[in-house]
Amino acid sequence: MTGNRPVKTALIAGNWKMNLTAEEGIALVQDLAGRLGSPSGNEVLLLPPFPILAAIGAAIGDAAIELGGQNLHWEASGPYTGEVSGPMLRAAGCRYVLVGHSERRSHFGETDRTVNRKVRAALECGLRVILAVGENEEERAAGRTRSTVRSHLLKGLEGVAAGEAARIEIAYEPIWAIGTGTTATVEQAGEVHGWLRDDLRRLFPPPADDPIRILYGGSVTPENVDTLMARPEIDGVLVGGASLQAESFARIARFQRETTIALPGKSC
Ligand code: 13P
Repeated sequence: MTGNRPVKTALIAGNWKMNLTAEEGIALVQDLAGRLGSPSGNEVLLLPPFPILAAIGAAIGDAAIELGGQNLHWEASGPYTGEVSGPMLRAAGCRYVLVGHSERRSHFGETDRTVNRKVRAALECGLRVILAVGENEEERAAGRTRSTVRSHLLKGLEGVAAGEAARIEIAYEPIWAIGTGTTATVEQAGEVHGWLRDDLRRLFPPPADDPIRILYGGSVTPENVDTLMARPEIDGVLVGGASLQAESFARIARFQRETTIALPGKSC
């Protein structure tokens, strides 16, 4: 990849995972909205647990914060005890849904096939999808990072039309960096983002691939966000632990960068 490309509006997403009651979440949103203040030019998104989505949506009110789900079922309704569908997320005020997080894959048996069904169901009901991909420690050590993330990407997006690409985001989350305090170096993250962009271009030839933002996730903090976001291949961040406190998430969300960044001549 060479040349310049305009930098996309950064997406700063907070994945609360299985944390916070409604009361705690509302207090966090009120604090966060106050700290975010005037628009920073970045898009801010919260992914709370299902039972508090509506309460968090109400607390967000007119603040410039988007709402999303952490998961969905691929059917719109039916006998699927314990599950939540895309239309239900829409009705609760969600614009986004996260699909294929490594915790869903490793703890709940999600496969590339179920991830793909979820991606297509989410797009079908009008949600924007954040598809999570990422290698584990063994895959990285064995030199299989590129093949792993490519497989997650291509299988996850199977059957998705180029016309739907504008409603897709990719989150690169190396499993070894999630909740460990070990962030990928900017070189490691930038390299994988470059590979993902190349694969996306093949899948959705330009300009269709262009709106797709590639986020980095894995131990993002107020201390490392500026360095990460200085990489031109990184279009946003998906934050776990540091999104559970208004102060740290607001600092992450308010990072700023240049409007145009020269891409390096060789990125991967
Ligand atoms: P941490 O930021 O806690 O490492 O979590 C990352 C993550 O899994 C976001 O989806």
